[in-house]
Amino acid sequence: MTDKLIIFDTTLRDGEQSPGASMTRDEKIRIAKALEKMRVDVIEAGFPVASLGDFEAVQAVANAIKDSTVCGLARATDTDIDRAGEALKNANSARIHTFIATSPIHMADKLRMSPEQVLERAVAAVKRARKYTDNVEFSPEDAGRSELDFLCRVIEAVIDAGARTVNIPDTVGYNVPQQFGNLIHNLIERVPNSDKAIFSVHCHNDLGLAVANSLAAVVNGARQVECTVNGLGERAGNAALEEIAMAVRTRKDVFPCQIGLDTTQIVPCSRLVSSITGFAVQPNKAIVGANAFAHESGIHQDGVLKKRETYEIMRAQDVGWSENRMVLGKHSGRNAFRTRLRELGVEFESEEDLNAAFRRFKDLADKKHEIYDDDLQALVTETGLEAENERLKLVSLHVCSETGETPAAAVTLAVDGIEKRQTADGGGPVDATYKAIEKIVESGSELQLYSVNAITSGTDSQGEVTVRVAKGGRIVNGQGADTDIVIASAKAYLNALSKLMAPMERAHPQL
Ligand code: KIV
Ligand code: ZN
Repeated sequence: MTDKLIIFDTTLRDGEQSPGASMTRDEKIRIAKALEKMRVDVIEAGFPVASLGDFEAVQAVANAIKDSTVCGLARATDTDIDRAGEALKNANSARIHTFIATSPIHMADKLRMSPEQVLERAVAAVKRARKYTDNVEFSPEDAGRSELDFLCRVIEAVIDAGARTVNIPDTVGYNVPQQFGNLIHNLIERVPNSDKAIFSVHCHNDLGLAVANSLAAVVNGARQVECTVNGLGERAGNAALEEIAMAVRTRKDVFPCQIGLDTTQIVPCSRLVSSITGFAVQPNKAIVGANAFAHESGIHQDGVLKKRETYEIMRAQDVGWSENRMVLGKHSGRNAFRTRLRELGVEFESEEDLNAAFRRFKDLADKKHEIYDDDLQALVTETGLEAENERLKLVSLHVCSETGETPAAAVTLAVDGIEKRQTADGGGPVDATYKAIEKIVESGSELQLYSVNAITSGTDSQGEVTVRVAKGGRIVNGQGADTDIVIASAKAYLNALSKLMAPMERAHPQL
């Protein structure tokens, strides 16, 4: 018998803390359903006290998910814990994850608390969380830079107080594999009641070591790994779920445990997260990058044709690469459309919403004959984005792009229902379009990133555009998809500017 390795996904919480990756309630439900389908054990759905929107999103995920445990994050305060308990009230299986920093630098300079006060607060938080559920997780934040003796005292005390999972975060991604593995080994050895809790790890990727550190911890006794799809997360991100899962599965000789995931859902889930957040996956990314199973060199191709194992250690279909088949076309009906979206975890709230999405599907099918799952996901994302873009709507766009001529654009927008038109020249049609839009909106923002990705292959593919826009320290991402990439670009820019126009009142858990 080998142990089970619990996969705790925090895409919806730590992943959402990536600048510009915030998700709406419906987007969170779509991702949570995809994670449930992948059989992720625990889904951390958010930080309920951050805002009313965050509370409602965690509540909605708790209501929608039946097979995975749904978790809410709470600082070690009564208000945070009560809010998390309330949000998770209807979950089939609920977990409260409470945390407080234990490193000298965090205690002295961030919390301005003594170690004794931190210890007391940690115990009180776990006891309060236990009033809502017996499934309580505690994290000593910045454990990777905490003093071992103090860490042992805190862990022993929170286990006595009722924590069932103790998570050891390398919050700032400072650790290296051997050291982090030793830390887990020492904690399990030295904490007298360590057998009463599952040890978990949560590694950030600042030195590119998040997955290596997590795996070193598994070898040394950790039995839960906290990770995110595509490695999304604060700064350089968290340990990537797909890499942890496939390393443990592929190297059974090294890791004495097994995962319960349906790994064929990895690629569809990766695409969904990328489409919703606008964070593209680099082509050479392990497991989920477009090149991860592509064999460019002749020698490799020859080897793979003779015997796949010469150059491949995993099968592409085991992580879901063969899943993206043509699913619908021009002649598909409303029922087929609804059924396929239901299979993808998308439910429409009303017949009206279904009809609106179906009309968009028919428009797309006129321009593009074969519609894939990724097209459908982008279409649903687009429908959600339209609701976000209430105040700024694209009415018309005319661009001129001709050899030897300066590209120019004429844009008409409805701003709060009033139509406004502007023209501009630019270095290319997208540049001209953005200049014309900025003339109308006068946002004063700075465009920090612009990227285009083809959703599927072929020149009739939809282009998915992501932009990052900053103003006064606030960063937002915008997305748009269309078979015409200039229109997709305009939509993405308008989506980002709409977000900048919306008020923001959201607390960050770790500040
Ligand atoms: O990185 C971190 O320390 C966290 C904690 C809240 C677990 O995200
Ligand atoms: Zn984190």
